[in-house]
Amino acid sequence: MLKVSNITKTFSADGGDVTAVHDISLAVPDGKFVSIIGKSGSGKSTLLSLLGALDKPTSGSIEVDGQNITKLSEHALIGYRCRKIGFVFQSYNLVPNLTAIENVMLPMEFAKTSKAKRRLRAQELLDQVGLSDGKQDRKPTRLSGGEQQRVAIARALANKPKLILADEPTGNLDSQTGKMIFDLLHNLSKSESTTVIVVTHDLSIAGRTDKAFRLQDGKLVTQ
Ligand SMILES: Nc1ncnc2c1ncn2[C@@H]1O[C@H](COP(=O)(O)OP(=O)(O)OP(=O)(O)O)[C@@H](O)[C@H]1O
Ligand SMILES: [Mg+2]
Repeated sequence: MLKVSNITKTFSADGGDVTAVHDISLAVPDGKFVSIIGKSGSGKSTLLSLLGALDKPTSGSIEVDGQNITKLSEHALIGYRCRKIGFVFQSYNLVPNLTAIENVMLPMEFAKTSKAKRRLRAQELLDQVGLSDGKQDRKPTRLSGGEQQRVAIARALANKPKLILADEPTGNLDSQTGKMIFDLLHNLSKSESTTVIVVTHDLSIAGRTDKAFRLQDGKLVTQ
């Protein structure tokens, strides 16, 4: 269970303070597939980075499996991000000089999984996301956008995270490929019983998730 209680994030900017996330509370049960929608600047990416512990809220608490991640030390946070969270970005963010399979193996190296296990699991994951054998040894520049995003999703799953956080994962893809990537995330949330939170501008996508949270000016307006 992910439980967010009254989180606020205020940035100090040149023109004054900006409250990007304003007193948000929400709960997402394990294995659910939910979306966050809202206009540009409404606080979606800020909220996602707080959930992923890439940034700390100004106030409020975020509980994952009963643990308040806003209270973790820097050292504990590294472990949390590595083992509990999988990130997927609009621009894929693969390491360009590593092959697809090496990209998927990388987070397992950080988690100190043995090399033999890393390769085996990476292969399984790439099969699962539908990247054919012949393409698993290619570098990202030799893959299409949709294929790169499949690799990024396999990489996000590498350490069996509790939570996958995806910020506009279909934003750079045509609508048909985007739909395939979306369906893949949806199926994975069920088969791996991983909670998936996806930020999207696409309302047809949001309509097909278990729940859509809408942000407006940093506030949650529908639950
Ligand atoms: N590091 C920062 N310093 C100051 N202001 C910030 C910072 N990060 C975000 N903001 C501001 O917080 C607000 C929310 O930004 P955020 O990136 O979360 O929006 P978003 O909903 O993801 O938008 P988009 O759909 O364009 O990606 C914006 O007004 C933005 O300018
Ligand atoms: Mg954003």
